[in-house]
Amino acid sequence: MEAMSTVGSERVAAVVPDVLAAIHEVLERHRVTEEEWYAALAYLTEVGRADEFILLSDVTRTSVLIDAMSHGASEATASDVEGPLYRDDPPWREKPCKIYGSYEGMGDGDVLMVRGNVTAAGGGPLADAVVDVWQTGPDGGYDLWDPRQPAFNFRGRMRVDEDGAYEFETMLPKPYTVPTEGPVGRYLEAMGQHPWRPAHIHFKVTAPGYKPLVTQVFFPDDPYLENDTIGAVKPALVRPVTPEDDHLRCEFDVALAPA
Ligand SMILES: [Fe+2]
Repeated sequence: MEAMSTVGSERVAAVVPDVLAAIHEVLERHRVTEEEWYAALAYLTEVGRADEFILLSDVTRTSVLIDAMSHGASEATASDVEGPLYRDDPPWREKPCKIYGSYEGMGDGDVLMVRGNVTAAGGGPLADAVVDVWQTGPDGGYDLWDPRQPAFNFRGRMRVDEDGAYEFETMLPKPYTVPTEGPVGRYLEAMGQHPWRPAHIHFKVTAPGYKPLVTQVFFPDDPYLENDTIGAVKPALVRPVTPEDDHLRCEFDVALAPA
């Protein structure tokens, strides 16, 4: 119950009875048997043991719902689901910021330069902003899943310039599947839901005095833009990729709302 202590007891008292009423209504409507109920409890236990509750929240589109309710329309850049793949204390990347190291299996992926400006929503540049990014490599895997990759590959934090500008070198990510070997994979299979996500780069942008922004950037022409398994694509977050010299270029400006 420790996690519950981070939520006020008044909210628990207000929300939990409605949760139970909804669950009881469904159990009655479907005449769920004792055997089925214990199977459901065993399944949720397994999800917890596998540390897949955030993933379950994502693939059931619950994370998207919470995100939409938490960050309504504003002048700030659109937010998006954080997902389960953020790692605390990513390395600071110094200019020129490059967020990856070579590894066997990176193949002939495309080098991608990402740049943009961090500003206050409807205001000027935020010189104290920090841009924190994480993504999969060009063959579709996160460092956590891929023992070939150096630690914290395709991750990093960087400080913006005095004019709020940032730029980093990465490789164009590819679509990937969420983990399918655990209990959430069995859920997807049972529901006939594919496990694919469109390629994306996760962003967490912070600045003193402003609400942190967690979001994702997507790329045009991705086969999963319209049917992301976690339903997290927002048109405003699909950013063009253009060829430039020997690499690709993507621009992503970020506007933060005041705290
Ligand atoms: Fe991701």
